[in-house]
Amino acid sequence: MNLKKLRVLITAGPTREFFDPVRFLSNPSSGKMGYAIAEAAVKKSFHVILVSGPTAMPPPKGLLRFVRVTSADEMYRVVMKEAARSDVIFMAAAVSDYRPAAFVPQKVKKTGKRTTIALVPNRDILKELGRRRRLGQVLVGFAAETEAIGVNALKKLRSKNLDWIVANRVGTGKTGFESDRNRALLISSQGVRKSLPLMSKKKLAEEILKACIHLSSRKPSA
Ligand code: CTP
Repeated sequence: MNLKKLRVLITAGPTREFFDPVRFLSNPSSGKMGYAIAEAAVKKSFHVILVSGPTAMPPPKGLLRFVRVTSADEMYRVVMKEAARSDVIFMAAAVSDYRPAAFVPQKVKKTGKRTTIALVPNRDILKELGRRRRLGQVLVGFAAETEAIGVNALKKLRSKNLDWIVANRVGTGKTGFESDRNRALLISSQGVRKSLPLMSKKKLAEEILKACIHLSSRKPSA
């Protein structure tokens, strides 16, 4: 494979699922990990497409394309359009699993009473990528876990038909979503396990890229 012309698709950040014009369901993802992978890939002279949910960060310089999206559904549509042409896909976005069942065009007024919001599941973008994967394409997922990191990540690797999963702990405050540093456990479909200790997300991104691109010349299993 010609590494110089490698086309790398990366998703980053959270998604927002609005239920009225001013309120949404989301998560604290900063997008830092995905943006750092995009930067690391640009540095390697790859052709990089970054699809980003709402974040506070400007797009890294040198991207082939930068697409801002809001909802999981929008992200799904952009990713599916780009996926077939991509050699490597990093699905680092923290996609909302659910969205409100209805969108009300006017601001919902308070009643002072207990209320509920009905949610419906969003499509799993990565699972669909795993289904559609073409020969030689490398698919990398991320697993944000609060417990049993290795076990849960391995389940995701298998159920979504991935080459690699990058697992990390969230919800501890020190690492994960908003932090500048993180540690990760990388697991490959070939049984390779690589533990990356606490380091800057920038350095972590370089390590993740190095590990995953290595596999891109392997014979695909799909
Ligand atoms: N993902 C996705 N589409 C979704 C949900 C998740 O593409 N609707 C991707 C994420 O980008 C990530 C991987 O799937 O690469 C795992 O996401 P995670 O939130 O850790 O797990 P889920 O599959 O959503 O499972 P659970 O929430 O039960 O842990």
